[in-house]
This record gives sequence, C-alpha cells and structure tokens, in this order.
Amino acid sequence: MKRVSIILILSLIALFLLASLTLGQQTQTAVAKYGKPKIDVQMDEVWKSAKEYVTDRYVSGTKDKVAYAKFRVLWDEDSIYVWAEVYDSLLNKDNTNPWEQDSVEIFVDEGNEKASSYDANDAQYRVNFDNYQSFGTNASKDYFVTASRKTDFGYVVEAQIKMRTKKLAEGMVIGFDLQVNDSNMFGNRVGIVAWNEWDNESWKNPSYFGNLKLEK
Ligand code: BGC
Repeated sequence: MKRVSIILILSLIALFLLASLTLGQQTQTAVAKYGKPKIDVQMDEVWKSAKEYVTDRYVSGTKDKVAYAKFRVLWDEDSIYVWAEVYDSLLNKDNTNPWEQDSVEIFVDEGNEKASSYDANDAQYRVNFDNYQSFGTNASKDYFVTASRKTDFGYVVEAQIKMRTKKLAEGMVIGFDLQVNDSNMFGNRVGIVAWNEWDNESWKNPSYFGNLKLEK
C-alpha cells in the first residue's frame, strides 16, 4: 500500500514538472551583425555575415504543413534590417485583414522592457508577399522601407525598420520577434509561426518578444 502511494506521488510530481516545462517557452536571443544593405531584395554581400534563424514556434498550424521563414538581421545606428525567405507554396492576399494574408510581421521593442502591453518604444510592422505594408501599434510607413519578390519556394522580403526613440550601438539588446502568417487558397489564415512567441501574443504583449543582440 505504502509503495503504491509513493509511486502515485512521484508520478504526480513528474506530471507537474512536465506541465510547467511545456506551458512556457524560453526567451530566445539572436545576433544581428553590423551593416547596411540596399532594400531591393537582392542579397548584398553584407548579409552573408549575418546568422540565419528559423521561425519554428507554431502558434497555429504544424511544421511542414504551413509557411515558415528563414531570416537574418543586420543593424546600424538608425535601423535594423531584416532579410526573410518565406517557404510558402501558395500565395494569397484575399483576406481584408492584412494579418490573415501571406505576410511577415516584425516586432521591435527598442528599450527591451518586456512589458505586458505596448509602451512608446514598441512597434508592430507587417508586409505581405506583394510588398503591401500594414501597421500595428506605433508603427507607420515613415519607419518602414520594404521590398519583396516571389521565388520558386515562396517569397523574399527585405525590410528596414527605422528606430523611433533611440540610436543603436554595439552591445545593445533590443526586443525582437518575427512572425509568418500563412493564408490558404480561400484567404483564411491557417498558419502562424514565430521565431520567439508561441501564443499569438506579440501583437499586444511585448514580453513575448525575443532578444536581439547587436554585434559588430
Ligand atoms: C496577430 C493577429 C492580430 C493582429 C493585429 C497579428 O500579429 O496574429 O491575431 O489581430 O496582429 O495587428
């Protein structure tokens, strides 16, 4: 009898540990290298110094079934730059909600406060495969320069996000996330995958962003 209750207690503890591990996720850190590319969806030499990252936190849809991106980030004193290759076999922009079109979203928290709601230095940018831009909190076209191109695997987006509140410098860490929205042929969003977040929260909650470390 005693043995049974010990086994029961141990299994409950194991179950609890497993549940707490899977509920939250570790905040990831990516590195951005110094450099200023031309925003023309041609891969300038300078991109080759930047490490490639993959969006693989599936908020909706599953791996190999919905679109995802491989991306790199560069920075200079005024901006960050994103190169995103989106693997998506079917491109659709029929939905009137831009976040339900095939698109890439970029989230920036210049102060990296990881607050649970947007403050003045947080912003949400979006661009679809056809280079149509749309904006969440604090974002506007004044701070967003983009180009896009369709490819045989999907599309590529190149973007400059100008900083609104501060100059960037080597060693700084800012909040950052990248999300891919995948639309099906009927214009319904069937996939959301992000680099850091896992719960469709980044658009309202910057504490779900990852970290971007600026290196030379
Ligand atoms: C989210 C949507 C949200 C939209 C608002 C997107 O990042 O995935 O669910 O409605 O942002 O801008």
